[in-house]
Parts: sequence; structure tokens; C-alpha cells
Amino acid sequence: SADATATGMNFGPCAGRTFGTTVGPALVMATDDHLKAVGDTGKQGRLLVEGFAVQEPPVDAEARAQRQAAVAALLAGFAHHLQERTAHHMGYPFNLDFDFSVLDQFQSFSINNLGGPFIESNYGVHSRRFEVAVLDWFARLWNIQQDEYWGYITTGGTEGNLHGLLVGREIFRDGIIYASCDSHYSVFKAARMYRVECVKIDTLVSGEMNCADFKSKLLMNAGRPAIVNVNIGTTVKGAIDDLDNIIRT
Ligand SMILES: Cc1ncc(COP(=O)(O)O)c(C=O)c1O
Repeated sequence: SADATATGMNFGPCAGRTFGTTVGPALVMATDDHLKAVGDTGKQGRLLVEGFAVQEPPVDAEARAQRQAAVAALLAGFAHHLQERTAHHMGYPFNLDFDFSVLDQFQSFSINNLGGPFIESNYGVHSRRFEVAVLDWFARLWNIQQDEYWGYITTGGTEGNLHGLLVGREIFRDGIIYASCDSHYSVFKAARMYRVECVKIDTLVSGEMNCADFKSKLLMNAGRPAIVNVNIGTTVKGAIDDLDNIIRT
């Protein structure tokens, strides 16, 4: 698995096919009992926010206008908040210098690239040709022949990590996942979801995997396959694990 969050991209061998089932963002809620069952209070450092009242849609024109004005004021306040926070944003390991405004025109379409990008869709409103073009661009960058890969663009880094680790788990049913302790939490969550043993590897001060520690932990589990999560840009330090060194180890 290569955690390539910045691209949310997922490359795999020419096999299998993924079908999307989620349309748009999903909501997850858990009661205290559920949280206890998974060993998480979910409450540490919790931000308390003023909630919104549950309301029926306004019935008359005046009430509707009032509601619209209230929503407009709320959104204007939020836009101001984002501008102010962005102006003081020190960064994160991703590019802050972007302008997606040319894509605004597509916000009014219900685009859905459900299913693998290489198959014809029965859903006409899609952007598969661009999805495939992006995959092809990366294939060229990595000298992979066009007919030698399969892949798709994920909704984010978590899904990319889930898919990469799933491929590892399917190939090595008895494998152990090794991931540096600077890896994103979605890697450890995926290990729990797939019920695969996961071993954390120490990192160097740069945030890269410490291959001496990797070696000693591999030796403790000699005889069991290794599924290795290799970071190309960790969340906090932007560290890139040394793939050649990992392979040699
Ligand atoms: C290195 C890394 N991997 C994975 C993720 C998860 O990405 P997403 O929130 O898009 O699922 C992040 C998010 O910050 C990340 O920094």
C-alpha cells in the first residue's frame, strides 16, 4: 500500500473491479454505548458547538424569505471565517496555492463515476475520460504500460489506504501489516477493520520509517508475509519512506 493521500489515487494490478455504493458524503453517528464497545470515548478534546434547531420548512412567503436571509447570513459568516483562517494558515503537507474556480460550472451536475473507470457506465453523467486520463498520466510517470495497470480515483486518502491494504490482505491471508508510527490513522483503522495484525515501526527524526527497527520487527515474525505501508508524504512531516531501503530490508 502506498499512502498517496494528496492524489487520493489508487493503483492496482489488472484485476478486480470496485463498485461505488456511496453517493456523496456519509454521516456517521455513534451513541456512548457504541463508542464504549469499540474502546473509544470519542469525547476527548470535543468541540462544543451551538446546534441548529430541527425545524419544519417555512410555510408562507415571509417565513421563507426570513429563513433564506438567515441562511445567507450564516454562509456569509462562514465564508468570512474561512478567509480569515486561510490567511493565517501555516500549511499542511498539501498545496495551498490552488484555484478550482474553472470547475465551479460543474457543481450543478450530479456527476457520478460509479464503478470502475474502464467499463462503460449505465449512468450517463460521468467524467470517466478524465479519471482515466489522470490514471494514464501517473502510469506514464511511473513507466507502466497502458494495459498493465488498473486503478481508480478514490474519494480520499482513507479509501486509497483501505484498497491498498485490502489487496495486500487478499494476497497474503496470513500477512502482518507493517506501518511506521508516523503513518496516518486510517492505516491502523484499516488493519482493525480487516482484523489483520499490525506492527508499528519507529521513525527517524525526519518522519521516515526506521529500517533498523523494521528489520528487527520483521525478524520477530520470520515466516509470516509482510504487508508494508509505504508513505509518500506523511500527515505531519510530509516524510517519504525510502522504498529501496525497505525492499532491501
Ligand atoms: C497521509 C494521510 N493519509 C490519509 C489521510 C486520510 O485522508 P482522507 O481524509 O482524505 O480520507 C490523510 C488526511 O489528512 C493523510 O494526511
